Amino acid sequence: MRAVDLIHKKREGGELSASEISFLIKGYSGGDIPDYQMSAWAMAVYYKGMTERETAALTLAMAESGDQVNLSPILGVKVDKHSTGGVGDKTTLIIGPLVASVGVPVAKMSGRGLGHTGGTIDKLESIDGFRTELSRDSFIAQVNDIGLAVIGQSGDLAPADKKLYALRDVTATVESIPLIASSVMSKKIAAGADAIVLDVKTGSGAFMKTLEDSEKLAAAMVAIGTEVGRQTAAVISDMDQPLGFAIGNALEVAEAIETLQGKGPEDLTELCLVLGSHMVVLGGAASSFDEAKGLLREQLSNGKALAKFKAFVEAQGGDGSVIDDPSRLPQATRTVEVQAITSGYVTAIQAEQLGLAAMILGAGRATKDAQIDYAVGLVLRKKVGDEVREGDSIATLYVREEQGDTDNVADRVREAYRIEPNASQNKPLLLAVVTSAGVSRFAQ
Ligand code: URA
Repeated sequence: MRAVDLIHKKREGGELSASEISFLIKGYSGGDIPDYQMSAWAMAVYYKGMTERETAALTLAMAESGDQVNLSPILGVKVDKHSTGGVGDKTTLIIGPLVASVGVPVAKMSGRGLGHTGGTIDKLESIDGFRTELSRDSFIAQVNDIGLAVIGQSGDLAPADKKLYALRDVTATVESIPLIASSVMSKKIAAGADAIVLDVKTGSGAFMKTLEDSEKLAAAMVAIGTEVGRQTAAVISDMDQPLGFAIGNALEVAEAIETLQGKGPEDLTELCLVLGSHMVVLGGAASSFDEAKGLLREQLSNGKALAKFKAFVEAQGGDGSVIDDPSRLPQATRTVEVQAITSGYVTAIQAEQLGLAAMILGAGRATKDAQIDYAVGLVLRKKVGDEVREGDSIATLYVREEQGDTDNVADRVREAYRIEPNASQNKPLLLAVVTSAGVSRFAQ
């Protein structure tokens, strides 16, 4: 086999076999196929696409390129969740204990944040004592014991994807549905889940800007999961503003605790209930979506989801008393209100800009090795649809004492808000669900 023939075949719109795709991925990972040939192939895929069979073969080849986590010693159906990005996305902190509280085991590997996006691991580490490095045996024992463990990514999961994603990044070939779908799913499959629920974002701040493209991406990921024997469902939600109000590590943990007490922001609570319900159905703890949602609502109001969070925090060495008293979380020493300079209605909030503002305050990392400050960040006081008068606070910055001038951060926050004379029609948060049975849009 020669790479040039496979590039030619794809360029002409042909379908590559699983062994041809495996040849490309193994050759590229091993250094036998150079960047320039892999780039040409990725560009051919960008223009000609891939069939479902090819996409599944690419996913498996990348999943098999490194370590594969064996979760079989954990009893029950292990359901993983993945989000395609999000600022202020603390859903894992809520969904993990919520779903575990009805008996579906959650064995999750999460990442650290880089740039404007926060990472679940950083958020958890804002709890004093919380450990995110567990041995494989302790990880499995904890899930069997309390139903939930979250650890930092270790080992070498899907290294072929890592190499190919970096190449796509510099060859204008990221925005290809089969390439994104196989990239995401290869990592989930290598992480060992039996079933996968995907939180696919759409809108100006997301990879996919339109609902139609987001549905295609979701359908491609569901098809891969189905093809490789992992049941998969995807929920498509709007990303025209951050989820909830808090952005910043300890601030987000506090908001997650409120949500687990049943007193969280409406958008965040609803998305967690919907994603969690799909996990519960795939995990076999309910026979319908409505039954699962009813169960999960009950767990929020009877305190069992919150109790599971406390058990989880303590099992990983964290100070469980923060759950009863969130003021024990790291606290910023100073707050600054960001005031609106125009009156009107909030019609959109650029999540990415707010993520960058939080990063500048110290909540995120500009470079991989930067230190973060768990206490700092921002809390939104106005969201899309709210009326604002000049001088009103639109957000509160939580800053460290030694932080000098906060004007540049406040300006960035103001710029992230679109305030117009008239309110726009309220866009729903939840747009569609994609399962192996097809796409179903929520009534709007
Ligand atoms: N996220 C991924 O992991 N891979 C892509 O290709 C795009 C987004």
